[in-house]
Amino acid sequence: MTRDDLFNTNASIVRDLVDACADVCPKAMICIITNPVNSTVPIAAEVLKKRGVYDPNRLFGVTTLDVVRANTFIAEAKGLDVTKVNVPVIGGHSGVTIIPLISQCTPHVSFPPDERERLTKRIQNAGTEVVEAKAGAGSATLSMAYAAAEFATSLLEALNGFEGRVQCAFVSSEETEAKYFATPLLLGKDGIEKNLGMGKLIDFEVNLLKAAMPELLANIKKGEEFVEKTYKK
Ligand SMILES: NC(=O)c1ccc[n+]([C@@H]2O[C@H](COP(=O)([O-])OP(=O)(O)OC[C@H]3O[C@@H](n4cnc5c(N)ncnc54)[C@H](O)[C@@H]3O)[C@@H](O)[C@H]2O)c1
Repeated sequence: MTRDDLFNTNASIVRDLVDACADVCPKAMICIITNPVNSTVPIAAEVLKKRGVYDPNRLFGVTTLDVVRANTFIAEAKGLDVTKVNVPVIGGHSGVTIIPLISQCTPHVSFPPDERERLTKRIQNAGTEVVEAKAGAGSATLSMAYAAAEFATSLLEALNGFEGRVQCAFVSSEETEAKYFATPLLLGKDGIEKNLGMGKLIDFEVNLLKAAMPELLANIKKGEEFVEKTYKK
């Protein structure tokens, strides 16, 4: 099962929960972890727009797990302390739409091209790796909880006035032709304070971005069309 297969079950759940948020907590920071994130975030946005309460700075698709995985695999490969490694991961949250920017890793790391490609594919397919390892017993759970806690803690700290909280998340974006796109974000009291953008990509990453775009655009469209076809108030 892919994240996109989850669409049929989860699309209406997200639509209805976000519709309830529009009633009871229209100013909430909404962090969508439910897959497929590439489609559920557009679903949430369309519902909030229909209800007249959409604030693009307060709606996030939680992609932190991709960063957690990238940090872990690169720390392992280089023998680094994982708590000191930070790899921005941009794009979306499934397969080829997950774009780790290893060239922007702090501390700086470099790999021969074949190793870089192997690591990139492992980051992109890490969710499937877990599903296969669990052999029918579900998908990532503890790592998802860890990633969700990391993202939510950062956002709550930013809401409480702590400065310099930066997380990647899948949000409304003008970085590319995709209406939603994950990049590092500076978080603040009103949600996204500043989109920090994708920075300078190396050729390998430019090609990852090109490869991601058709699937990302299709996933976004699917979410938007779902609301257009099924939303009733
Ligand atoms: N974004 C990420 O990084 C990431 C990572 C892993 C999993 N996920 C996604 O997180 C979601 C949850 O995964 P899980 O493994 O915890 O699944 P799960 O099946 O263990 O838990 C789903 C929970 O949702 C509840 N639920 C079902 N229908 C509901 C409804 N209509 N309203 C409210 N609650 C309802 C269920 O009772 C259950 O407790 C999935 O969509 C999964 O794909 C996201």
